[in-house]
Amino acid sequence: MARATHSFPDSFLWGTATSGYQVEGQSTNTDFWRWEQLPGRIAQGHKSGRACDWWEGGRWREDFDRAANDGHSAHRLSVEWSRVQPAPDRWDDAALDYYRQMVRGLRERGLTPLVTLHHFVNPLWVADTQRNLWESAEIVLLFAAYVRKVVGALGEFVNLWATINEPNVYMVFGWVNGIFPPGKKSIFAAMRVAANLLRAHAAAYCVIHELQPQALVGLPIHFRPIFPAHPDFWPDRWVAQTQFNLFSSLFPDAVRTGRLRQVLRPSLPIPEAKGTLDYFALNYYSADVTRFDLTNPRELFGRRSFPTDAEPDSSGLYASCPLGFYEALKWARGLRLPIYVTENGIGDETDGLRRRYLVTHLRQLWRAVNFNWNVRGYFHWSLVDNFEWERGWTHRFGLYALDTETQVRTPRPSARLYAEICKSRALSSDVVAQYTPELLETLFP
Ligand code: FCB
Repeated sequence: MARATHSFPDSFLWGTATSGYQVEGQSTNTDFWRWEQLPGRIAQGHKSGRACDWWEGGRWREDFDRAANDGHSAHRLSVEWSRVQPAPDRWDDAALDYYRQMVRGLRERGLTPLVTLHHFVNPLWVADTQRNLWESAEIVLLFAAYVRKVVGALGEFVNLWATINEPNVYMVFGWVNGIFPPGKKSIFAAMRVAANLLRAHAAAYCVIHELQPQALVGLPIHFRPIFPAHPDFWPDRWVAQTQFNLFSSLFPDAVRTGRLRQVLRPSLPIPEAKGTLDYFALNYYSADVTRFDLTNPRELFGRRSFPTDAEPDSSGLYASCPLGFYEALKWARGLRLPIYVTENGIGDETDGLRRRYLVTHLRQLWRAVNFNWNVRGYFHWSLVDNFEWERGWTHRFGLYALDTETQVRTPRPSARLYAEICKSRALSSDVVAQYTPELLETLFP
């Protein structure tokens, strides 16, 4: 068969994504660390421990070398608030300088940094007052002061910022189903938190632009398309739309309109949030099908499952559904903003599924690029296996496998596959034939 190629523009960014807590290790001054010590919170009692040893052992250097050798042109990482501001009245300049070394280290290796300012984790002092500060509007100025400090220190090397990672997941995991600290189950507290996350994002947006008018600022959304099980049955359509409105599109719609949708209440005006996005940051993993079910009020009377043709991962939590990715990109395009895919990946220790996942998802990404939709970069989650929150080390997302005892990294076949794609800036029939021969006929008929 003649060689065929799906090419991407030269300026397209190819990278991976990580977050501070998940890779740095020993993030002891945080609410998540304290949470990990409680019985039953993390699968199999796992601990983050040294994680990927980026902080004390400085192994970010070797991991950035890997990314550069593999032809990546970008990397997304996050700054841990607890390191930069360990107490309300104390800034740690050495920590800031260390982050500065990291982002400079990316630039020196030819990698464009995208920096997230909050990725699920808080300094203990934010969590340790009578109630978690995200439930109070006080958080807005505190977060803005922290953002000012970080942007002042790293701005020389960073132009792409993400304010708060997945506010929709953070709100649900922390305040609805209690999987993350503070472990609450209160829809009303969750709505207060959603409003404060949005206000804090808006304040951060203003601070970043004041310091760096040319910067691009985003708010990564965990975006799950939700399809009605029976599209011609209106209760299924209603529940799919309601779940979608209160999860995937909640924050993007609020930024578009300046009003935050609420449950059982009229929407809340937050006018300062209107227009505070320079790009849409899309985190896409999988899609859902939902059917109306009166017995499940906790999920707004819907019962979710995976689309029938989706391939579930070993944990059963995510499934490969590339058409959902296309739907997500199509929806994002409607916002008329540049799009960066800031996370996409699958937990797969043996790499049996990841290669197929990568190829089929990049094929959908290429369709979007080929239609001239304004998609500018792709960050695979993740570079190296890292501490996967409540799932501990049971769910492995890395292109590189990590031995947590020895800190040895071993490339999975997907690392080589992704390197070939990054280096050639294309998905070619040769690469598909080599890594996922079973897909060749479908992708390049
Ligand atoms: C996303 C999180 C990220 C990682 C992946 C698997 O929701 O942003 O930290 O846990 O899921």
